[in-house]
Amino acid sequence: MNVSRSDALVRRLGDHSELDALARDLKDSLKGLGEGSPQVAPEVAALALRLNDKLSSHLRSEEDVLFHALERIRAMGSEVRSLRSEHEVLRLQSVGVRHLAARAADEGAQAAAAVALLGPLADSFLETLGRHACREEEVVFPSAAQILGEDRFAALVEEMDAVERREQSRAGRG
Ligand SMILES: [Fe+2]
Ligand SMILES: [Fe+2]
Repeated sequence: MNVSRSDALVRRLGDHSELDALARDLKDSLKGLGEGSPQVAPEVAALALRLNDKLSSHLRSEEDVLFHALERIRAMGSEVRSLRSEHEVLRLQSVGVRHLAARAADEGAQAAAAVALLGPLADSFLETLGRHACREEEVVFPSAAQILGEDRFAALVEEMDAVERREQSRAGRG
């Protein structure tokens, strides 16, 4: 199926919206935890896991498809290197949030310490995620569509969707 450049952009932005919705849900449930409601810890842990899964497949699809294509364009080299390093930061933050949220929910001796560490790390993670998505939406995707051309960009979005589906089914939660 062929999709137009604008359809392709809308689809890619939709994927960011899904991440954003999960991030907002996580932030809301963390607020409850920070306000002394330990009963929300399992919900926080479940959301952190979902967000980590979604983020992993999203980042992989961008790296394997779009970044790979952009790296062949000399003028985009430093931009893509910088985006890849932001992805690494996001992965580390997300895994940290996932582990701390699981620890906060297990009601063990370290649960209180995990809750205390979780808030600041989650704030940094969600801030990095928002800034990164904004950069892609406002700079990277429009530039890619312009440089690569409408049809090529639309084809890459379809490839990214396919990678995401494969990654999510591999994780068993797709
Ligand atoms: Fe990205
Ligand atoms: Fe993205």
